[in-house]
Amino acid sequence: MSERSKKMEAQQREMPEPYEGNRPVPWLVIIIVSAVFIWAIGYIWTTHQTNPPSYGDRRTAQDFQVAASSSGGAIDGAQIYAAQCVACHQAGGQGLPGVFPPLAGSEWVTGKAALTVQIVLHGVAGELTVKGTQYNGMMPMFKDKLDDAQLAAVVSYIRSNFGNSAEPVDAATVAAERKATADHAEPWNGDAELSGMK
Ligand code: HEC
Repeated sequence: MSERSKKMEAQQREMPEPYEGNRPVPWLVIIIVSAVFIWAIGYIWTTHQTNPPSYGDRRTAQDFQVAASSSGGAIDGAQIYAAQCVACHQAGGQGLPGVFPPLAGSEWVTGKAALTVQIVLHGVAGELTVKGTQYNGMMPMFKDKLDDAQLAAVVSYIRSNFGNSAEPVDAATVAAERKATADHAEPWNGDAELSGMK
């Protein structure tokens, strides 16, 4: 055997150099991806906002209305306070010095229940002395915003929180107070009108 063919033989015994080919995506993967894609289009196509919520959370808006109205007397004073009063009187009822008077330890809150109810029903404007400090702000009226039960709940809440411990108020009391001052359209004029009601 010649020197040359020996070399050829040695070369042919070697494995070929590996190289990177372009392997096609397997058919199975293409079929699965297409199937998911087609299913998704179909799902979006057949799903409308107005469809009954047959998937996931099956509660409807109606369920919530029923739940809200069937909770009956369980109106949450804390919740009403958080929604209607906290912006001014603050979470701890401490108010903002010089601007919003405190409800914590206030004689207007822990005194006669009817007085607290009247303040929240009609609001207050003008000079008002709270815990020895004079305020001259504007307390909005809530007679059109809160019904008797809601107003009773929030007044009961402020009378029994923030370190206060005055007796609660019921909806009937609020209804009577509302009726007694039904023709009162203006907010109470601070100390001038309210101190006589203490
Ligand atoms: C926009 C701010 C504001 C909101 C909201 C507000 N108040 Fe007031 N409140 C005041 C101001 C200001 C005064 C003092 C009025 C004045 O100086 O004549 C006051 C006074 C009072 C007083 C008598 C004074 C005292 O500190 O004890 C009570 C009680 C009271 N608010 C309860 C409430 C309750 C309950 C709510 C929610 C249902 C509420 N307020 C919502 C601003 C607010």
